[in-house]
Amino acid sequence: MSQQLNPHPKSLPQNEGVISNQNRSSSLPVEEGAGGRGKNSRTVLNVEKLRIHYATPQGDVIAVSDISFNLYEGETLGLVGESGCGKSTTAYGILQLVQPPGYIVNGSIEVDGTEVLNLDEEELRKFRWTGLSLIPQGAMNSLNPTMRVKDQIIDVIESHEGKQKDREALRERIFSLFQNVGLPNRIYNMYPHELSGGMKQRVCIAMAVALNPTVVIADEATSALDVVVQRIVAQTLISVKDDIGVSLIVIGHDMGLLAQIVDRIAVMYAGKMVEIAPVENVYAKPLHPYTQLLIDSIPSIKERKPLKITEGITHDPRNPPSGCIFRLRCPFAWQHCAEVEPPQIMMDDLHEVACHLYDEHFAERRANALATIANS
Ligand SMILES: Nc1ncnc2c1ncn2[C@@H]1O[C@H](COP(=O)(O)OP(=O)(O)OP(=O)(O)O)[C@@H](O)[C@H]1O
Ligand code: SF4
Ligand SMILES: [Mg+2]
Repeated sequence: MSQQLNPHPKSLPQNEGVISNQNRSSSLPVEEGAGGRGKNSRTVLNVEKLRIHYATPQGDVIAVSDISFNLYEGETLGLVGESGCGKSTTAYGILQLVQPPGYIVNGSIEVDGTEVLNLDEEELRKFRWTGLSLIPQGAMNSLNPTMRVKDQIIDVIESHEGKQKDREALRERIFSLFQNVGLPNRIYNMYPHELSGGMKQRVCIAMAVALNPTVVIADEATSALDVVVQRIVAQTLISVKDDIGVSLIVIGHDMGLLAQIVDRIAVMYAGKMVEIAPVENVYAKPLHPYTQLLIDSIPSIKERKPLKITEGITHDPRNPPSGCIFRLRCPFAWQHCAEVEPPQIMMDDLHEVACHLYDEHFAERRANALATIANS
């Protein structure tokens, strides 16, 4: 196995934004990281070489560029990366919900052995909510303001299972969903405007799991909420995942919060997947230079230090640089990075990184990079 580049061995544990496996908050029902299930568990979602473009008059925006990853049964995978890196487009792509001018160029998306890209419209309609369901970015604001909560959930159930004759049983089913997400039964007859932001978000979670899907994708499910409510909603997501037994992809920006709820983290940069690893590895020994900068940019309340800024400019998404996608901002880039795109290198069970520094041929360069970091 290659030596791992870890520029922050001392600074990371002091950062309260970062919660290691040992000091994860006990108030959240957190399970052990992917090491506990990971490779020995069944793969429920497998994404291979997914590529999604948005057509514009100036050329195609490459929003998602041949990304591959999988999700294990019962796992929570965090998908992170800066704004515009393609997280939501990936989620929409997996559900076949990319809207024009967006389109899927190539790829494969398998859920429990079903190739989603081969489904016709009717099969897809059935598959959404039952195989895969999405809590979209800003979901709580897209609840229909003119419909009571109960009617919005009944809509989801009846659109898949047909008219439910036993209304009492249907009501009990909805109460049971409310219980799963920690909502009181009294909201049954309420309108969305009568609920707080956290309650609305929990209604969205209830709707997403109403038909027991295999995979739920939550896109920024907590970002529009205040910090206390964020934790409650994150806790709700995890307890629902465990109660119902779904597998979860959580898209987000808050690395501190994600550290407490996910098993593995997948890091995207400009449409590419640059690192995928168990959560404890990402915080304790990030390998990709972009992940390192991302972790370094988490503010600490213990240690007063200027926030690290990732230098350099992001490229035009219609015209990505040759070779490595991160090379215009990478402090370690060299000629080879401009000539050859780095492959996904498997460093460890479950730890993959796309960076030439981890190619055995460049061990000396990696050692120099380590020395530079140590002296900085
Ligand atoms: N309709 C569109 N037309 C052209 N480009 C688009 C369109 N929608 C998204 N994009 C571009 O696709 C890229 C990926 O966008 P996406 O919304 O998936 O990013 P994101 O990672 O979810 O960002 P955020 O964290 O802000 O939600 C961005 O460069 C964005 O500008
Ligand atoms: S491949 Fe090169 S440019 Fe890309 S992240 Fe690694 S060192 Fe930096
Ligand atoms: Mg988004």
